[in-house]
Amino acid sequence: MTTFHLPLDRSAGVPLHRQIREGIRQAILAGALRPGQRLPSTRALAAELAVSRLPVLAAYEQLRHECYVEGRTGAGTYVSQSLPEDLLCSRPAAGVAPRWPQARDAGGLGPFRMSLPALDRFPHAAWARLVARHARDLAPAHMAYGDPAGLPALRLAIAEHLRAARGMRCEAEQVLVVSGSQAALRLAAAVLLAPGDGVAVEEPGYPGARAALTANGAVPLPVPVDAEGIDVAALQAHGGRVRAAYVTPAHQYPLGMSMTAARRLALLDWAARSDAWVLEDDYDSEYRYVSRPLGALQGMDAHDRVVYVGTFSKVLFPALRIGYLVVPPALLDAFVRARLAFDLFPPTLYQSALAEFLREGHFARHLRRMRGVYQGRRDALLAALARHCGDRLRVHNADAGLHVAALLAEGLDEARVMERMRERGLTATALSGCYVGPARRDGLLLGFGGSDEGRLREAARVLGELLRA
Ligand SMILES: Cc1ncc(COP(=O)(O)O)c(C=O)c1O
Repeated sequence: MTTFHLPLDRSAGVPLHRQIREGIRQAILAGALRPGQRLPSTRALAAELAVSRLPVLAAYEQLRHECYVEGRTGAGTYVSQSLPEDLLCSRPAAGVAPRWPQARDAGGLGPFRMSLPALDRFPHAAWARLVARHARDLAPAHMAYGDPAGLPALRLAIAEHLRAARGMRCEAEQVLVVSGSQAALRLAAAVLLAPGDGVAVEEPGYPGARAALTANGAVPLPVPVDAEGIDVAALQAHGGRVRAAYVTPAHQYPLGMSMTAARRLALLDWAARSDAWVLEDDYDSEYRYVSRPLGALQGMDAHDRVVYVGTFSKVLFPALRIGYLVVPPALLDAFVRARLAFDLFPPTLYQSALAEFLREGHFARHLRRMRGVYQGRRDALLAALARHCGDRLRVHNADAGLHVAALLAEGLDEARVMERMRERGLTATALSGCYVGPARRDGLLLGFGGSDEGRLREAARVLGELLRA
């Protein structure tokens, strides 16, 4: 069982055990939790919701009485297999057919390196055991060509995770396993954009996405972001040229805010009215320090306009090169056909080991642990930046993710600062590199995921020194 989205309202006057029971019951009825799917242990869910175990135990007991769940002694709690079909809304979306088998490393690993998770905390032993077992047991069917949409077991595990943890509406058949988000965006561009088509990108935004989306001749149209996310009025001003808009709603890259509900609805409305697509890059949404992770934009989309991109690069490790797309049913055939012209699928061995890593609960456990680790690293970095760089750097937003954007004080030259950082062994990434047009802000992107607290404190001290020099 994976983590899942269960909002609690402590000011509602409704007891917590009743809110938890109702949240799980609704998730079962809506199909976010499926018959036979394992619920988290009471201990894990209590930790996840930051409540004591008592209300969780009471909620599970009540659900058991009502036959929504069944407990197998010593083997956890599962959604009942015997729930009547017409109670559930979990039938596959219309038009979804089963699919059968057919035929950066700039700057080294220095402190502040962007896009790096805590490689030192990866559960190597569990992963190595699974990879070794799957390599030993590699059946002929897994040694031949496989499904270009990806290994069915992995697509199923990903869909379960996304429905439960990200509030998404999707079936396993809509999931395409690809070699990371970069490949996902390349594929999306091949399917959705013709040379000369406009693709809206956030300004500032993620250069990797821009490169992937425009590789086939689509034209990037920068659209400013403000405190609420992409400016939909400015997007509309580009008119009918825009065929797709690339956004990072959970954690804007690079500035860090999350897209408000009003902005999300306006963007979805724009897409539906303009017959355009929204490309949602959900690259590090699992890590949010000020509240529980926000649901995905895809889960709010009533018109099937969102193509969702996810990756294991931040939650496991980038060199795994496994990511995924969730595509509307109507686009599925076109995406699978386009996939045949690319790299077909990532190695089946890693797909099958990863599927089991998710199914056995290693993934959910790792995510839970890492939230605490990253919170500690982020807090240590923010405190050290305040102490050593206070008047020279202003942190823009540090609510989520594995990096912070910090704006340089007036008079400090970004290129000079970057050069000095490199001289002192700090990995530097410039905010100005994220703009298509002239950079409006000078600043630094400081990754904190890949360095422990001591290393971050020392790096912030050195940074303070060179900013004052
Ligand atoms: C905004 C954004 N999207 C996606 C990714 C992950 O890319 P990939 O899955 O290709 O490793 C990154 C990593 O740096 C990123 O910053």
